[in-house]
Amino acid sequence: MAEIDSKFISIEGIARRYPKREGGVTTIFENLWLQVPRGEFVCIIGHSGCGKTSVLNILAGLETPSDGAVIVDGQAISGPSLDRAVIFQGHALLPWRTVLGNVAYAVSSRWRKAGKAEVDERSRRFIELVGLKGSELKKPAELSGGMRQRVGIARALSIEPKILLMDEPFSALDALTRGTLQDEVRRICTATGQTVVMITHDVDEAIYLADKIVLMTNGPEAMVAEVVANPLPKDRVRDSIHRHEDYYVVRNHLVDFLVSRSRTFRDEKPAGYDPRRPPIVKLGSAAQAAEMANTIPFPATASARD
Ligand SMILES: Nc1ncnc2c1ncn2[C@@H]1O[C@H](COP(=O)(O)OP(=O)(O)OP(=O)(O)O)[C@@H](O)[C@H]1O
Ligand SMILES: [Mg+2]
Repeated sequence: MAEIDSKFISIEGIARRYPKREGGVTTIFENLWLQVPRGEFVCIIGHSGCGKTSVLNILAGLETPSDGAVIVDGQAISGPSLDRAVIFQGHALLPWRTVLGNVAYAVSSRWRKAGKAEVDERSRRFIELVGLKGSELKKPAELSGGMRQRVGIARALSIEPKILLMDEPFSALDALTRGTLQDEVRRICTATGQTVVMITHDVDEAIYLADKIVLMTNGPEAMVAEVVANPLPKDRVRDSIHRHEDYYVVRNHLVDFLVSRSRTFRDEKPAGYDPRRPPIVKLGSAAQAAEMANTIPFPATASARD
């Protein structure tokens, strides 16, 4: 069980290739391996075009990899499933249905035998959870961008997916709405132990939301360079997160990667780099303390007395 939980999502050597117009193939990425334990919130960061959306679509079962496989909870993915909910950047709501109708449609697809009252109750509960109580009977065209995105989130969460997949879900929103929705998604996912894979371009968003941050190098032939374990405490809050002593340590590491190492990694791979096991990087004061404990000769006080 522990084995299955630590490899709850297991991406095993996947590739995405496209034929070139002039002949031959372009390899967007290949031999990509990544594991996500159950209940973890993982963000993927990388420059435009490196293949993040392709990875997410493969996880969703919307695209088939050119090579390799993805195993979720012990089963290979072979197509889309209500076990995996996707929140796209452009919400993808049914325009002719109300807010309630959009969420209820997903709920009744998931629980086909559920009665109308049950579907209604569940849908309303999730609509309320994302702060849309009172807007149940509005159509998508009557909503702001932020409200539409909330409907997308309510719809995804209402089906209790095994994994929640999000492709830059907040990027088109204003800063205030983005912050509020990040808070809500974090609150709900933490409370329910939801397993999440989310793509973002925003390093601050990743540090606030993610347990682990996956760094992808530039394409073509993109790679997972490393996985950064977020050193900030689980109970971090938006208003004070930037004052934590480790905040800029992790932020600078991510920005440095995006600015230069995402480009140079291929030619400067660390010794022993194995794409099957991308290194897990630990940063910040706790990691430093652990390193010190390993390197200071024991007993450290003896030499001071001599
Ligand atoms: N149908 C296709 N045919 C050829 N190339 C494609 C096709 N679909 C995607 N690509 C290429 O694959 C690469 C990866 O695309 P993908 O959308 O996964 O990138 P991304 O990392 O999500 O980028 P962004 O951050 O801009 O969303 C891009 O270079 C894109 O041009
Ligand atoms: Mg994309």
